[in-house]
Amino acid sequence: MVDFTQGPAPAGYFSPLRFEADIYDCEVEGSIPRDLNGAFFRVGGEWFYPSNTTDDSPFSADGYISSFRIHNGIVDFKSRWVKTPRFLNNLAARKQLYGNYRNPFTSDTSVQNIDKPYLGTVINTAPIAHGGKLFALKEDAHPYEIDPNTLETLGPWDFDGRFKAQTFSAHPKVDPLSGDMICYGYEATGLCTDDLWIYTISPNGRVKKEIRIKVPYVSLLHDMVLTQKYFIFPVYGYVTSIEMLRAGKLHWGWDKTMPTYWGIISREGDGSDARWFQGPASCVIHTINAFDDGDKVIVDAPISDGNPFPFFPSVDGSPWSPQLARHTIRRLTFDMTSTRDTYEEKMLDPTDIVDLARMDDRFISLPYRYVYSSMSDTTQPFDTARAGQNRVVNTYFRYDLQTAEWRKYFVGDVHNLQEVSFIPRSETAPEGDGHLIGTASNYADMRTELVIVDATEMTELARVYLPFRMTPQVHARWYSNKELPLIEAPMPAYTGRVQNS
Ligand SMILES: [Fe+2]
Repeated sequence: MVDFTQGPAPAGYFSPLRFEADIYDCEVEGSIPRDLNGAFFRVGGEWFYPSNTTDDSPFSADGYISSFRIHNGIVDFKSRWVKTPRFLNNLAARKQLYGNYRNPFTSDTSVQNIDKPYLGTVINTAPIAHGGKLFALKEDAHPYEIDPNTLETLGPWDFDGRFKAQTFSAHPKVDPLSGDMICYGYEATGLCTDDLWIYTISPNGRVKKEIRIKVPYVSLLHDMVLTQKYFIFPVYGYVTSIEMLRAGKLHWGWDKTMPTYWGIISREGDGSDARWFQGPASCVIHTINAFDDGDKVIVDAPISDGNPFPFFPSVDGSPWSPQLARHTIRRLTFDMTSTRDTYEEKMLDPTDIVDLARMDDRFISLPYRYVYSSMSDTTQPFDTARAGQNRVVNTYFRYDLQTAEWRKYFVGDVHNLQEVSFIPRSETAPEGDGHLIGTASNYADMRTELVIVDATEMTELARVYLPFRMTPQVHARWYSNKELPLIEAPMPAYTGRVQNS
């Protein structure tokens, strides 16, 4: 995972990298499953020019996309910066022109663009493919289309002018039954606005539907969930205002007095039926899944009771609490026949997990069984002599919602894992039959390693070694040759003179 303790001045393993890479025929240990033909796309943040401020968020780092292209057991690696206006302006000036996280008031006057904050975006959060296009995402701007083979930035995409919100979501959901992509923009009409605009995009990339609603208060609306009947949005303790931004602060502060709201909106309606269910203060950066159960709506998510991000300070000045930042898997039940706008919350297991939880995406919006994420298993060894005193996430797990069984995979004693992804063995394979894939930072050898794990047995099948440390991702996705027009053999041709005798 990204080490959030690094802040705007990362050092050691996380020191800034200022290169783009092309590595062919990566070193592989073990055997790459032959059914893996596609690419593992990773998006993260990397500082080309470090922040000008001392209190900035790591979320301000420039966008960086990379891919492990896997075909016939061979792995090629490629990485590129996401060329946003901000990145190009900085390059032209040869310095960092921009200020604190999503606060244009703190940027150089030449690039402030208060009315067009999306011009200051860093596209550093997540990839998604839909309608045959690959996008890199950040929630404060439109998606940026990326060439899936070259990883060059093609530019922002507004769905032929029909996506009207200024912002797009970091975590759209693709309905596995219809193929529609559900996405949204919050602060949809400008900085600190309470507009939430929700879009349904057809499988061929056309805007089918737009719903415009208001949120109870402006909050960090990073993720959502979907059932076959409803859109579902959490609103929770991060607050912002134009006054905060004018005062030079980061875009978000944590207000522990703010309740959690869950907005539930019919997918078939016009937004006028939106209900906001209210609960105690909590934080829901990421979700897992949701589904309809008769008149009830079931939502699963890794939830904490307080602020998980130490760089977004409390508005009352109170210190950050690591204890309240712990995430556990919780199940929320909403009774849509009830006249009371409350919900039930149940902790399914007390284990402290990383909130980057995933599932088999073929079951988005449907009943499902398995949750995948990562954790710090303190019963496993960690070699501090070789790897230092870093905080480590060393284990992937599979949690069975039916039986409460845990299965684990340990990556190694000098490694820190990033988000796990699930790849089904085939389009028709049962839920959970497939592979887990993700990258690990090897702190001892200062390199990045890709691991491929059997998702049932939780045993390692293959490990791919990069000869350097690569930017940690925030999120990643696997896409097969069927989902994107991936070129089979991207090895470049040699154009120099060839001696044959
Ligand atoms: Fe995210």
